[in-house]
Amino acid sequence: MHSRSLLAAALALAGAPSVDAVLRFSCSELVTERLDPLVFPGAIQSPHVHQIVGGNMFNVTMDHQRNNIAEEATCTTCQFAEDFSNYWTAILYFRARNGSYIRVPQRNNIDFDGARGGGMTVYYAPGYQNQKVTAFAPGFRMIVGNPMYRTSAEASKFRQLTFTCLQTLSTRTGETTDMPKNPCPEGIMSNVRFPTCWDGKTLDPPDHSSHVAYPASGTFESGGACPASHPVRIPQLFYEVIWDTRRFNDRSLWPEDGSQPFVWSYGDYTGYGTHGDYVFGWKGDSLQKAMDANCQGAACSQLRSQSISVGNNCRQAQKVAEAIDGPLARLPGDVEIVGPQPGAGNGGGSNPGTPVTPSPTPVPSPGNGGGCVAQKWGQCGGQGWSGCTTCASGSTCRAQNQWYSQCL
Ligand SMILES: *[C@@H]1O[C@H](CO)[C@@H](O)[C@H](O)[C@H]1NC(C)=O
Ligand SMILES: *[C@@H]1O[C@H](CO)[C@@H](O)[C@H](O)[C@H]1NC(C)=O
Repeated sequence: MHSRSLLAAALALAGAPSVDAVLRFSCSELVTERLDPLVFPGAIQSPHVHQIVGGNMFNVTMDHQRNNIAEEATCTTCQFAEDFSNYWTAILYFRARNGSYIRVPQRNNIDFDGARGGGMTVYYAPGYQNQKVTAFAPGFRMIVGNPMYRTSAEASKFRQLTFTCLQTLSTRTGETTDMPKNPCPEGIMSNVRFPTCWDGKTLDPPDHSSHVAYPASGTFESGGACPASHPVRIPQLFYEVIWDTRRFNDRSLWPEDGSQPFVWSYGDYTGYGTHGDYVFGWKGDSLQKAMDANCQGAACSQLRSQSISVGNNCRQAQKVAEAIDGPLARLPGDVEIVGPQPGAGNGGGSNPGTPVTPSPTPVPSPGNGGGCVAQKWGQCGGQGWSGCTTCASGSTCRAQNQWYSQCL
């Protein structure tokens, strides 16, 4: 009897929803080039350069009626071998004093050394607050952000597209919605979080975004309800991309007026036009299984994993053959820079950008303090959060923004 009840207790613990678990894994670069099968299908080439990671079905055209990319792909750059999705963002350039553009390399995130080209870190968060999520359906795509935006007011339509000025590789505080205006010693991290409510039927509308929405009130993290128009809770998809600015951080290389020298491949110094694109491509119901199992980090017994070096072997040749690394006289595609170059008059001074919202301390969780532990990389606080606020040993709870604190 005794050992049985111990077993039952152990099972209860194991089966208790570990609400803070989140998939977190690395995807190496697949190819970096001027293609955009969502916004400019069929166009060789699209207006601006993207870095693409994920499965090797990425192509000039990716018809959403052709739902079976996970069946047709033969490799992926991601650590989960069943994830043939594609993920992409714009890339970053440094503009030298002589006017030439040099591509800013990317660097590996913590835990993911060796990912080719720096790649990106991808998160899928299942339902917090014991709520379930419905994994994306085959043929699903979405875009968050708008490369035309250049103002804080426009960018505020997207709650969680931000930048972190890395003082160390593990800095996770002080997110801003615009580009940092001072040198960031270890680089600049782009944080791209997608909306978490779906209309339940549209896979890919013409604007690639009206089928998803933010919760009607509160946040995904706080268990906020989805609006009636978009009632289905989907996993929170989140990219981190680290731009290795270290070789460009010397102020003597920056414009003489002190303005910040980094410009996006779509012609934006402000950062308000940051955006991310997603083409779902998980095999079968593998993502749903991982979400239901509350898998944690880059290991999940429900999924097939592969090493970063195996992922590195998956790559595509550029279909748009052109020089993108520089020095270049013009941005690839002759992209014109639109909008201001912020930071003038800022030589060596302090000019901290537009804070998302200062929220230095995680919101305490009444009624849930008792012995509940959030795992590393899991959520541990934020507006409306009522889950665990104690982090597993070896990690510390740090506020990332007003909605989200994470065990790091
Ligand atoms: C990409 O598209 C081209 C032209 O449509 C086609 O020939 C090629 O097989 C496609 N590649 C993949 C991996 O589907
Ligand atoms: C401009 O400056 C960059 C950075 O110092 C350098 O790599 C590049 O060769 C220069 N280009 C010209 C045309 O002088």
